[in-house]
Amino acid sequence: MELNRQMPEIDDQTLNDLFAKVKQKYGYDFSRYRREMVKRRLFKRLLNSEVEDYHNYIKLLERDAQEFKRLIEDLTIKVSYFFRDPFVFEFLAYVVIPELIKTKKRNNDQIIRIWSAGCAYGEEIYSVAILLLDYFERKKMNIQEYEIFLFGTDIDESALEKAQKGVYPEESVLEVKKRFLDKYFVYKNGLYYLRDEVKRMVTFCQHDVISSKQITPPSGVICNYDLILCRNLLIYFDISLQKQILLNLYHALNPGGYLVLGEAESLFGELELLFDCLNIKTKVYQKRG
Ligand SMILES: C[S@@+](CC[C@H](N)C(=O)[O-])C[C@H]1O[C@@H](n2cnc3c(N)ncnc32)[C@H](O)[C@@H]1O
Repeated sequence: MELNRQMPEIDDQTLNDLFAKVKQKYGYDFSRYRREMVKRRLFKRLLNSEVEDYHNYIKLLERDAQEFKRLIEDLTIKVSYFFRDPFVFEFLAYVVIPELIKTKKRNNDQIIRIWSAGCAYGEEIYSVAILLLDYFERKKMNIQEYEIFLFGTDIDESALEKAQKGVYPEESVLEVKKRFLDKYFVYKNGLYYLRDEVKRMVTFCQHDVISSKQITPPSGVICNYDLILCRNLLIYFDISLQKQILLNLYHALNPGGYLVLGEAESLFGELELLFDCLNIKTKVYQKRG
């Protein structure tokens, strides 16, 4: 199919048929993802397929499980890398983590719980793990004195399998400081392997932020998060869904807990009354407690 073809219109009925098929097969509900994004991604798949129109594309999904998988992969955009938006991670390293540990000490609380929602291949939550290891080392404190629970969740199980392996191409580690790269990765045959010390800190599990069945990662059991990162995921949803998810995250946080959103995401409306904005550039918020 020609690549310079104009994007054909897709009517609501056909789109709804597609959403119903995805829901039936995978249990995912794409009906509240931004329509324009869905249409663009769908068009890309159509161009790469053997069929000419959406009606036949939906039929194709019935007989081609691989194409169905590729569609899901394209709809759940997994662009990420270690220390994405480095200033955010500087803010976490030098403001949020020190404040959090100070509060933990003051309250004689040794449990730290952090969740990355929509973690892609684990780059974000592993970056936080590295920051914690680094913090305890710089402060000459024993990390073993704390029980640290780090969760990475994503809707896409195949992404989580990759996350668990902890093996990354060079593009994923371009923002990693040299001292972290030397200390926490092993380079072999063009790939970067995360050291076990970092990998074993994180638990990955499948979790759909839209699902009303669980508002928190299943293996997290209780909420009580000290820090939640939900970056570059809300942008794919309509405003009412963003609000619903942000409220869930609010309830999953401890009073005084931190929420980090993506660069193009913000709190809005009455949600702004529930948090203090600590730094607008890094989109770091703190739950009022
Ligand atoms: C662009 S990536 C963001 C990765 C990382 N948070 C970052 O900012 O670099 C968006 C991730 O959200 C995941 N995702 C999409 N819909 C989701 C949903 N309903 N529940 C959980 N994760 C979802 C995608 O699979 C993808 O891994």
